[in-house]
Amino acid sequence: MKILGIESSCDETGIAIYDEQSGLIADALYSQIELHKEYGGVVPELASRDHIRKTLPMIQQLMSESQLSPTDLSGIAYTAGPGLVGALMVGASIAKSLALAWDLPTVGVHHMEGHLLAPMLSADKPSYPFIALLVSGGHTQLLSCERYGVYEILGESVDDAAGEAFDKVAKMLGLDYPGGPEVARLAESGTPNAYRFPRPMTDRPGFNFSFSGLKTFTKTTIASIDNPSDQDKANIALAFETAVVDTIRIKCKRAIEHTGFKSLVIAGGVSANTSLRTSLEDLASNMNIKVYFPELQLCTDNGAMIAYAGLQRLKHGHTEDWAISVRPRWPMTELENAQ
Ligand code: KG4
Ligand code: ZN
Repeated sequence: MKILGIESSCDETGIAIYDEQSGLIADALYSQIELHKEYGGVVPELASRDHIRKTLPMIQQLMSESQLSPTDLSGIAYTAGPGLVGALMVGASIAKSLALAWDLPTVGVHHMEGHLLAPMLSADKPSYPFIALLVSGGHTQLLSCERYGVYEILGESVDDAAGEAFDKVAKMLGLDYPGGPEVARLAESGTPNAYRFPRPMTDRPGFNFSFSGLKTFTKTTIASIDNPSDQDKANIALAFETAVVDTIRIKCKRAIEHTGFKSLVIAGGVSANTSLRTSLEDLASNMNIKVYFPELQLCTDNGAMIAYAGLQRLKHGHTEDWAISVRPRWPMTELENAQ
């Protein structure tokens, strides 16, 4: 069973073909970073226009490179939400038009379920039940995953997502968009403990996060220094990154203790962060559990995770009708139980 996956929820056009037997057989990614860079963030209208330029040529190229014809496919998966409405509409429209022409079913995938299942594309994959930490530009959520399709939200950010906080702090430090990797790079030359930033909401019980106060603390710290040097900025980047990583670590530890689960899955763009990966690997070894991350190129948005998640949905009997509808806001709790 082979399925074509289309990701277009934000600023990456991701196309992939996943085969149930042999795994990922083709994968292409086009990032719009250069397009949005001069605006310091994603411009939704430009994102839609670029997805519409890139999607079909990329699909055509993947199909011909992998020597597949439409009859080799069992379905087409696309990101149905959450994300930018126009960008989602491009993926949904192209998926449904191709499916109508090729006589295939379509499956609308929840973008965060795509991230959640991305570690399943690795050779060493987690088995249920596990705790999942989803950390992206739009979400920070801790989930208890009993089995496929049964996800309970233990906690989430009450304001900014972790990736969003990284992006905003990057702007404050005069770094380029997308800010997460830039802050992480600058933090590498920071002096440990030059500053100590707060670990928000760790002194309260529960699993929720809040990164807005930490962002303001960072802003105030920058403003308190006259003409900050490159070293000052690196010290601030490191203090911020350490505070985010420690906060996430504390909440993950709590979730593991609470559920007694032996596996922790980390996914979403921020899971590419080396300090976070190192800290959670250390936590896992201290707690005698296992931690799983997607392969680095599958941490941020990609078509492979949508193809894989779509295949699971298709196998559980989920297909869409021919109306083109997307869900820009779509809480994971409203995800139809696949069991
Ligand atoms: O999952 P993703 O590609 O898109 C969303 O679904 O939001 O995540 C993008 C987010 C951005 O906020 C980006 O700054 C952050 O992930 N990110 C990172 C790193 N790489 C990407 N944050 C911290 N460290 C990184 N190495
Ligand atoms: Zn994403």
